Amino acid sequence: MTDLFAGLADPRPAQETMAEGAVLLRGFFAAGEADVIAELRAIVAQAPFRHMVTPGGHTMSVAMTNCGSKGWVTDRRGYRYDSVDPESGHKWPAMPSSFRDLAERAAAQGGLSSFSPDACLVNRYVPGAKMSLHQDKDELDLGAPIVSVSLGLPATFMFGGLLRSDKPKRFRLAHGDIAVWGGPARLAFHGVAPLADGEHPVMGRQRINLTFRKVI
Ligand code: SIN
Ligand code: FE2
Repeated sequence: MTDLFAGLADPRPAQETMAEGAVLLRGFFAAGEADVIAELRAIVAQAPFRHMVTPGGHTMSVAMTNCGSKGWVTDRRGYRYDSVDPESGHKWPAMPSSFRDLAERAAAQGGLSSFSPDACLVNRYVPGAKMSLHQDKDELDLGAPIVSVSLGLPATFMFGGLLRSDKPKRFRLAHGDIAVWGGPARLAFHGVAPLADGEHPVMGRQRINLTFRKVI
């Protein structure tokens, strides 16, 4: 079959506003990719992915781990940040400088400078996994933005307003795209639709998301 678009540049804009204070940076993550993926493998070897349980007793379809001085965890007692991995009893792996650089550069490109994240939640989606609409509100410092990096299979990101009932807009997140939200959008409801099946040339049959936050 002839591909009519072969050889043409990606027609989607490099930068798109999702809402006031929220921007999608397409293909931002290209240079330095190999470093970040190698560091990611090392983190997962030290603190393997696990399916956590919500306070309501639901096992999440997304598997998670963390790096940085704080890690996001959930269990029957609630959602919180902890400096210790509850599975191993050890500190979470340190945040690699390649991760930090990427997050800081993306925040600056999104117009939110001087971001210094202390937590990176790593989410792993296999086909069918999803994340329901929620707000990121377990951080003490709500002045700092969220920087969210997509790797692997494409996903549909839902980005809504400050009320759960606000109808979310849908955006395609592909390998290398970064979403940044802060200011008036910091507490926007967001989520990820069930992942479609596929095989990514670099990451295989999965999507990985790195969510950078400043907790304290
Ligand atoms: C999250 O909100 O923690 C995850 C977002 C994503 O996977 O893109
Ligand atoms: Fe989130």
